[in-house]
Amino acid sequence: MEIQRNREDDMKVLITGGAGYIGSIIAGSFKRAGHEPVILDSLINGNREFTRPYSFIQADIADKDALKALWEKEEGFDGVIHCAALTIVPESVASPGLYYQENVTKSLIFFETLEALGCKKVILSGSASVYGNSSETLLTEESPVNPGSPYARTKLIQEQLLEDLCRKIEKGGLRGISLRYFNPVGAAPDLSSGAWKENGSHLIAKLMAHSSKTPFTLTGTNLPTHDGTGLRDYFHVADLARAHVMAMEKFDRVLKEEKTEYTLMNAGSGQGVTVKEFIKAFEKVQGKSVDYLIGPSRPGDVPGGYASIEKIKRLLGWQPEYSLKDAIESALEWEKIRSTSIEESLN
Ligand SMILES: NC(=O)c1ccc[n+]([C@@H]2O[C@H](COP(=O)([O-])OP(=O)(O)OC[C@H]3O[C@@H](n4cnc5c(N)ncnc54)[C@H](O)[C@@H]3O)[C@@H](O)[C@H]2O)c1
Repeated sequence: MEIQRNREDDMKVLITGGAGYIGSIIAGSFKRAGHEPVILDSLINGNREFTRPYSFIQADIADKDALKALWEKEEGFDGVIHCAALTIVPESVASPGLYYQENVTKSLIFFETLEALGCKKVILSGSASVYGNSSETLLTEESPVNPGSPYARTKLIQEQLLEDLCRKIEKGGLRGISLRYFNPVGAAPDLSSGAWKENGSHLIAKLMAHSSKTPFTLTGTNLPTHDGTGLRDYFHVADLARAHVMAMEKFDRVLKEEKTEYTLMNAGSGQGVTVKEFIKAFEKVQGKSVDYLIGPSRPGDVPGGYASIEKIKRLLGWQPEYSLKDAIESALEWEKIRSTSIEESLN
């Protein structure tokens, strides 16, 4: 069944994983821009509270019947944002099969169902973790990929899956854009949602969790960067969310300009910030110093890198509006109300 929709200025967009951290903030961004987000999430790691302002269906992305019924009920969607995934690196090392099942197998089923339903526009949540231990620090979309964990490998395969389905010889099917996110920080501008489950591998989460009893341990201090600590690219999650709205609004123009059915773009600040610099910025916003210990180097500590954002600037006219300070402030504001939000969602 193919339903033709013709709207550009008030799009109806399906967001998988919209009960999670980034998906919920993307949903808010679409709504503020005058579009209609609809959320599909299994709630395996999502927060029902975050879905309250939107239409929501609790379903797994691999549940073909649920997706077909939703598509018919909503009379199709103008586009789909695919955020749903398992995202915890150490968990992926412990249970790689689970990650391939959830992120790869289910995404294949999802994309093929979308294709059968006549979907023409898919934006995928990609991850800069696919660059892994790169020899380059300024990472362009052409930089070599070297994913360093099962999680990162599943994110690369998701991109490749989407690309191959879009590049099928028979035209008229799916078309796609992958956005490779660097390190989003912060919460929704109205603090309606944010990172609600601990992801201990994120630097900001570690800094917020540290206390005099559990001091923060800085590892990787002899790396080939200007202060010896790893280089990352942090940017406000609200800027990331806005990039999805712009990519969906400009979808046809972008692919036409690139003469392709699929393309990928980095999304980051375009600025490299070391772990020590991030700690300094965090201390400044928080108004008190962070006591940290210097830990031993760990195998796998990498100098890291930051995004070249020339492509996304050129194709979407997007660039970050918020500063690193804004992003940290937003994360700290959200942290103050996070526990209430979790309690509400469990009631
Ligand atoms: N948070 C980051 O720093 C970051 C960085 C790069 C890329 N990403 C990507 O962004 C996306 C969103 O990440 P997040 O941080 O918001 O994670 P999250 O865990 O907060 O959100 C993921 C959501 O997907 C849902 N979900 C998972 N599997 C599902 C399934 N099979 N069917 C339906 N729903 C399912 C979960 O319930 C959850 O609500 C992921 O694809 C992730 O790989 C995140």
